[in-house]
Amino acid sequence: MERPKILHIDDSLVDNAVTLWRTGGLVALPTETVYGLGADATNGEAVARIYSVKSRPQFNPLIIHVADARAACRYVEWSDTADLLADAFWPGPLTMVLKRRPRSRISELVSAGGDTLAVRVPSHPVAQQLLQAFNGAIAAPSANRSGRVSPTTAEHVREELAGDVPLIIDGGACEVGLESTVLDLSGESPIILRAGSVTQEMIEAALGEKIATHQVLAALHNAAHKSPGQLESHYAPSIHVRLNAADVAADEVLLAFGAVPLSGAAKTLNLSASGNLIEAAANLFAYMRLLDDPKFRAIAVMPIPNEGIGIAINDRLQRASAPR
Ligand code: TXA
Ligand code: MG
Repeated sequence: MERPKILHIDDSLVDNAVTLWRTGGLVALPTETVYGLGADATNGEAVARIYSVKSRPQFNPLIIHVADARAACRYVEWSDTADLLADAFWPGPLTMVLKRRPRSRISELVSAGGDTLAVRVPSHPVAQQLLQAFNGAIAAPSANRSGRVSPTTAEHVREELAGDVPLIIDGGACEVGLESTVLDLSGESPIILRAGSVTQEMIEAALGEKIATHQVLAALHNAAHKSPGQLESHYAPSIHVRLNAADVAADEVLLAFGAVPLSGAAKTLNLSASGNLIEAAANLFAYMRLLDDPKFRAIAVMPIPNEGIGIAINDRLQRASAPR
């Protein structure tokens, strides 16, 4: 395939994307979190193509993206809790896992054979425009090869998937820069399966009750993780990632945080000089990519405060540093 086109949105591009989706094609699209690799979620073959382009393990289910909560109700068993959270956080970076509706036409492959569906309503205006025009459900994992960091610009998507996706729609750099929070509402009580910028505290405030994260539950029950996407080694640069660095060597690069970066690294990028965790999250994947150069021995990472969205940042960093 020729070099994929990166294009800005206009009406004819919306029509192009919708036509590609309707005919089983793939289109990479911007969201406020990360870029997604989208296909019509009711088209099993198109969904299968996503797995094959990403080289993703088949057991990992996908998120469906819809224009609004009304559209979500067509595919999942809606609940009062879902309604409350949709009011509080949609459109935006919260994904809810709910029971599939019996006659939902969503491909089984999207649920990886399970009886639940992960659904979200992205707030990015380009994603909104595309989803409204498509008027259906788009299955879209992050637009990277499996196990690699998620792309936060159209250019990253091209680097990742060149040759395998005919159309990449440019919506600028992703504002959030971290994948959405995944909240499982299919069981008796809500459980956070993946930390994101909608934090546990924010969800608890909206619900007026305490909730658990899968890490806590897994520790309690010593059980396998419920979210199959939570592979230990994930979001991985090609060189070693060393966390909580208190010093840095001359053959290492430094992912810094805060006003006083360590000195002595071959190259330094600061996630946020002012110590702003939101800014750090937005820079995280792009900076890991920029530092990921086999010329260097490792990426040393300064400690990130483990609070608010810092919990999600540390979760991604831990995965990036897990042994492979
Ligand atoms: O921000 C995001 O969520 C991005 C953008 C493109 O929307 N998408 C994304 O998708 O990160 P993906 O496929 O890379 O990650 C989906 C996560 C995985 O951890 C997966 O295991 C979990 O959601 N997931 C999806 N469906 C699920 C289900 N039915 N039950 C439990 N976990 C599910
Ligand atoms: Mg992903």
